[in-house]
Amino acid sequence: MVRSESERTVSDVMTASKLEVVRQGAALGAEIRGVDPGGPLDEATAAAIRRAFLEHQVIFFRDRRLSPRKLLAFARHFGSPVEYPFAEGIPECPLVTRIVKEPHERINFGGEWHSDTTYLERPPQATLLYAVEVPAVGGDTLYSDMYRAYERLSPGMRAMLGRLRAVNTAGLLDREKRDGYASVRGRNVDRLDMSAEHPVVRTHPETGRKALYINETHTLRFGGMTREESLPLIAHLCREAIRPELGYRLRWERGTLTIWDNRCVQHYALNDYHGQRRVMYRVIVAGDRPS
Ligand code: SIN
Repeated sequence: MVRSESERTVSDVMTASKLEVVRQGAALGAEIRGVDPGGPLDEATAAAIRRAFLEHQVIFFRDRRLSPRKLLAFARHFGSPVEYPFAEGIPECPLVTRIVKEPHERINFGGEWHSDTTYLERPPQATLLYAVEVPAVGGDTLYSDMYRAYERLSPGMRAMLGRLRAVNTAGLLDREKRDGYASVRGRNVDRLDMSAEHPVVRTHPETGRKALYINETHTLRFGGMTREESLPLIAHLCREAIRPELGYRLRWERGTLTIWDNRCVQHYALNDYHGQRRVMYRVIVAGDRPS
């Protein structure tokens, strides 16, 4: 049936109005229902998803069937997908990385608290992770809210941190661990010298809110200080950053697609599913220089 112009307009508006954002965590995390991220999205729907992402920091869709190309097309609603420095993309879609842990493997990818690749001058603003195959139990991902982590600190601590910068490096995560992601097609394994200095408190470029921006996996030291001098405060802040009340625990199902905001969230991939297989497709989206 050929639809008239006015019917098409009504139908497009319906697409956005069918979208439901269901908050899942007290601090962060929301499920998006009523819209297919694998299908063509009208502007209003894409904007609504983007607003939910900024408000809830971690958003997810359930029960989707996405090819790598569709995942990449959806990622473009958030910005420009970019390569992850330590892994090859899949041949048919090089900006999509396959993250796999096989039943015999012991080391998982992302099994420490971090925000993605903070050792880059311009770390990715967002990460998309799509579950292709998941363990029967285990393999959840934990998220923690870095806005609230900052806001909970005392005024004196916030003022002091506002003047500090931190050196973030790829080299804190040891070679053995990077080599241990045996089923992720690694590259640049000798580039553990990648490092960048960023403010310890960053202002989110879109929401204007301040967030704590250090993590135990990549933050080496404060600018102008030694590692030894820096470590007690880094350790304290990293503990504060992952208080349970700041968190959300995502239980993956096959077909779950999650997008998180690296500018205000840390995450941790649980490694509690030895003997089972977990396969994900991952895309990162270019970000700006933290300020
Ligand atoms: C990551 O750190 O990007 C991986 C998270 C996960 O596999 O749950």
